Amino acid sequence: MPLKIFITGASSGIGAEIARQYSLLNRDNVIGLIGRNKTKLSKLHKQLGCKSLPIVADVSDFNSIETAAQIFLSEYGLPDIVIANAGVSSGSLLQNKDDIEVIEKIFKINFHGVVNTFHPFVSSFMKQKSGHLVAIASVAGIRGLPGAGAYSASKAALINYMESIRVELLKNNVKVTTISPGYIKSPMTDVNSYYMPFILDTDMAAKKIIKFISKNKRHVIFPWQMALLGRIMHILPNIVWDFLAKNAPHKKRNTM
Ligand SMILES: NC(=O)c1ccc[n+]([C@@H]2O[C@H](COP(=O)([O-])OP(=O)(O)OC[C@H]3O[C@@H](n4cnc5c(N)ncnc54)[C@H](OP(=O)(O)O)[C@@H]3O)[C@@H](O)[C@H]2O)c1
Repeated sequence: MPLKIFITGASSGIGAEIARQYSLLNRDNVIGLIGRNKTKLSKLHKQLGCKSLPIVADVSDFNSIETAAQIFLSEYGLPDIVIANAGVSSGSLLQNKDDIEVIEKIFKINFHGVVNTFHPFVSSFMKQKSGHLVAIASVAGIRGLPGAGAYSASKAALINYMESIRVELLKNNVKVTTISPGYIKSPMTDVNSYYMPFILDTDMAAKKIIKFISKNKRHVIFPWQMALLGRIMHILPNIVWDFLAKNAPHKKRNTM
């Protein structure tokens, strides 16, 4: 059955590849491609083998993303799946005054951006007792990572928020899926100079994400090695975590 999908952060990396994979799955799918970079969105729109609608919007600005949602709704009606994938990453340190603004920006995009993306659709989903809300979180949200406190905290907040709305929306039959990837090859990780264990190619990651969505998973951490590591990280006593994490490489600052 053809699907209508609304994807934020479709101009690059994982979001662009999810759009490509959905277009390969069914030529009758319709995809809303949301991002800030008009040129990249238009390029992807031309490459896709199914109908798509590139819309420039900033997820951290509610009016901007609400307008994007209205454009999609008036052109194609209610989507079946909304994927809040847009995100940014940068190292941040509490003692750096410049990072105060960076920390706020990361939260506005990675956390509030997801809320802003879902809100324009959720009432109709609830009324129709259908629809699927998907957020791309991160394994970085499982424990506080040194040097990337804002990114880590924004994804931790997102994981908990998704759990809240998943339960809230159960009685309305609105599906909610949280995806927490480990390292995926994309412009976001291309800036990392440290070793990234179990890193996956973007197309493999996008295929897996689409499969998890179709199986209506609640919260998936992938690849499986990261899922195992994530579960261990989650239950480690603080003293052990502190010992293991204190020498972890720090994410570069000023990467957004
Ligand atoms: N790569 C990894 O290893 C990894 C691991 C775990 C989780 N993730 C998560 O996966 C998601 C996608 O990341 P990626 O690796 O594909 O990174 P990416 O290639 O840098 O893509 C990020 C996307 O988000 C969009 N975006 C950023 N700020 C936005 C804003 N304010 N409004 C609208 N769109 C915005 C960007 O488009 P514009 O610049 O055009 O706006 C871009 O399309 C992110 O949420 C990230 O945190 C990535």
